[in-house]
Amino acid sequence: MNSSTFTSLKKPPIYTKSKGEFWNDEYISKQMLKAHLNPEFDGASRKITFIEKSVAWIRELVPCSKYSLLLDIGCGPGIYAEKFAQAGYHVTGIDFSKRSIEYARQSALNKKWSISYLYKNYLEMNLNEIFDFCTMIYCDYGALSTKDRQVIMNKIYHHLKPGGKLLLDVFSMKRFYDFQEQQTWELCHNGGFWRKDEYIALNGFYKYSDNVTLELISIISKNEITPYYLWNTYFSKETLIQEAEQAGFKVCGIFGDVCGNIYQKECGTIAVLLEKSN
Ligand SMILES: C[S@@+](CC[C@H](N)C(=O)[O-])C[C@H]1O[C@@H](n2cnc3c(N)ncnc32)[C@H](O)[C@@H]1O
Repeated sequence: MNSSTFTSLKKPPIYTKSKGEFWNDEYISKQMLKAHLNPEFDGASRKITFIEKSVAWIRELVPCSKYSLLLDIGCGPGIYAEKFAQAGYHVTGIDFSKRSIEYARQSALNKKWSISYLYKNYLEMNLNEIFDFCTMIYCDYGALSTKDRQVIMNKIYHHLKPGGKLLLDVFSMKRFYDFQEQQTWELCHNGGFWRKDEYIALNGFYKYSDNVTLELISIISKNEITPYYLWNTYFSKETLIQEAEQAGFKVCGIFGDVCGNIYQKECGTIAVLLEKSN
């Protein structure tokens, strides 16, 4: 062990970005895709039963007869996007996981869905199209820093028609209070999610001010030690509304999740339906 080993294990300043590739690492992205496509697993996309309920609710709330052009932001391998297309929306999906976008394109082709998929960082999107409806589902908004959340809110605002809608969800303060600080480790003899070959994962779960948590996963293999930072910002109804209104949105509805359950303080998530003013 040398001093850089200790540095990579230390709690970093808030919202420090990982140096190690995560979404586009050749090996890790394969494991991510498997996680997305497992219908019984909640790790990357939610379970398929939830997604089906969610799409059924969304199409009632924001009907495709009025809001046809839909942009799914952070679409992953297109699980929602395909169901939106099936429901009658004209769908564009954007994601910066190359493997997910390639899978999504092939899957749409096989199923003959006309969905447009863009391999792009949504924080830099500057599309030649404006939409009736944007979705950003599974708490990706809270994985962003304060500055990046402002960037994405403004980007979405600019990519919506006047009167257009945005639906997104975040983890609630309940999840923040339930989050336990701890340090754990795991020895993976035959490889695992993070590496093909043997590695040790040292995990630090930390709380920060401003309702932020970090899962710091340091992977130690024969040749390297690489820290990965998974950030989460948690919201109350009020703080979420404040950020949306700062970007110019009007709040049309607050829910407990993207299936339309009633919002209560005990819910683990909050979903918000926003509208770009005319
Ligand atoms: C938690 S997953 C949710 C996927 C999908 N919305 C769902 O519910 O099935 C977050 C997705 O956002 C994508 N993502 C994260 N940051 C991104 C960025 N800056 N630009 C584009 N995609 C991003 C990831 O690649 C991943 O597919």
